[in-house]
Amino acid sequence: MTTDRKNFGSKLGVILASAGSAVGLGNIWRFPTEVGKNGGAAFILVYLACVLLIGVPIMMGEFVIGRHTRANTATAYQKLAPGTWWRVQGGIGVLVAFIIMCYYVVVSGWTLYYAYSSLVGALQYSGDDAGHFSSFFDSFVAHPWLPVLFAVIFMAVVHLIIIMGVEKGIERFSKVMMPMLLLIIAVLVVCAFSLPGSSQGLRYLFYPDFSKLTASTILSAVGQAFFSLSLAMGCLCTYASYFRKDTNLVRTAYSVSIIDTIVALMAGVIIFPAVYSVENPNLEEGAGLVFKSLPYIFSHAFHSMPVVGYVFSLCFYLLLFLAALTSAISIHEPVTAYLHEAHRMSRKKAAMWVSVVCMALGVFCSLSFGLLGNVKLFGLTIFDCFDAFPSKILMPLGGIIISLFTGWYLDKKLVHDELTNDGTIRFRLFPFIIFLLRWVIPVAIGLVFVNQFFDLTKIVDLFAGN
Ligand code: PHE
Repeated sequence: MTTDRKNFGSKLGVILASAGSAVGLGNIWRFPTEVGKNGGAAFILVYLACVLLIGVPIMMGEFVIGRHTRANTATAYQKLAPGTWWRVQGGIGVLVAFIIMCYYVVVSGWTLYYAYSSLVGALQYSGDDAGHFSSFFDSFVAHPWLPVLFAVIFMAVVHLIIIMGVEKGIERFSKVMMPMLLLIIAVLVVCAFSLPGSSQGLRYLFYPDFSKLTASTILSAVGQAFFSLSLAMGCLCTYASYFRKDTNLVRTAYSVSIIDTIVALMAGVIIFPAVYSVENPNLEEGAGLVFKSLPYIFSHAFHSMPVVGYVFSLCFYLLLFLAALTSAISIHEPVTAYLHEAHRMSRKKAAMWVSVVCMALGVFCSLSFGLLGNVKLFGLTIFDCFDAFPSKILMPLGGIIISLFTGWYLDKKLVHDELTNDGTIRFRLFPFIIFLLRWVIPVAIGLVFVNQFFDLTKIVDLFAGN
């Protein structure tokens, strides 16, 4: 059934497609928000440690599972662990991808709308109402059909790229979009350096204040590393099933993590100078930061050079759109590949099912900002449920299972052979990676998981005598 399986054609394609999955909204709005909340550079240092000690080993684990089985995520676990409960992780991976796709397409539609709005000049504002763009955003998302329209256009683009196939669709477009994304970042960084608040912004970003370091900083960093590297979503495992036999998994994992981290840092370098160049900005977190605070900040930071401000804002929202697009493709693929291979549907038909069903559920997520705002489950809106269930429950659980599965269940020789391409590449850190997968990572993710329900940081403070 899988003999006609396509592969990525080149090493660069492998790296750019995987980095495209990792570089997403998590880098551009979540990372700067976390840095802001957790004391600047001190958080960055902890984050780097988490990427190295938790992110990279799990990514290697997902690569091993995907490339060894050369199958979609669900089938991959079935092949490696037939008849055991480990197989649930295959299903969890596909489910996570499916649920995230439903709301991610809505947020991605917003990025498209903002790129369009900056193009037509609607994000230029010289008045002094810092809440101007809060109302702009709130009335947009509450509109009965406008956000849905943009989500549908976005989904149509993702769909077209997916049905073109792995090499001619995903790889070809990643090879165009990722360099474009990096170029846009370079332009934005140069503009950000010209701002009056740049030195203050950069000092905040790169000068560590260790007094701000708390147990919750560490837990936030673990969560951020996990999300940003697209772990436990079935994405990287599915992409790895298209890697060729000679792809160097270790080097690919390092490259993807480095690109992802650089983009996150650059997002900080772009955003903080602008924030420090404006008096009394109304700073929101997460989505609010990029859709409510930044349009005001950008149009005021560049008030003496409106053309640069226009280009800056346009480039920024294009960047957001591209980042969302490459991530959305990677989250569509695990579900499409699963339906295609495990249910013997043609790839086109599988993709159509995923696009249509996700879009239909996406409409409900979108309407939860307007018409369906009062519909709540466990006190959460529909949109928040779609976000919380995978990110708070399924993904941490998946992370623990993947690390235990790779560290304990899989034959060590199999893992070693995959990571070293049958012994042809040296990988001296192998025992250390296995140690991390067996002990350190399950405990670290376990703490983040439990901490969501019982605030563990309070217990740590108690012991520290605070
Ligand atoms: N790594 C992605 C990000 O940082 C996470 C993601 C991937 C989200 C794929 C959705 C789809 O945004």
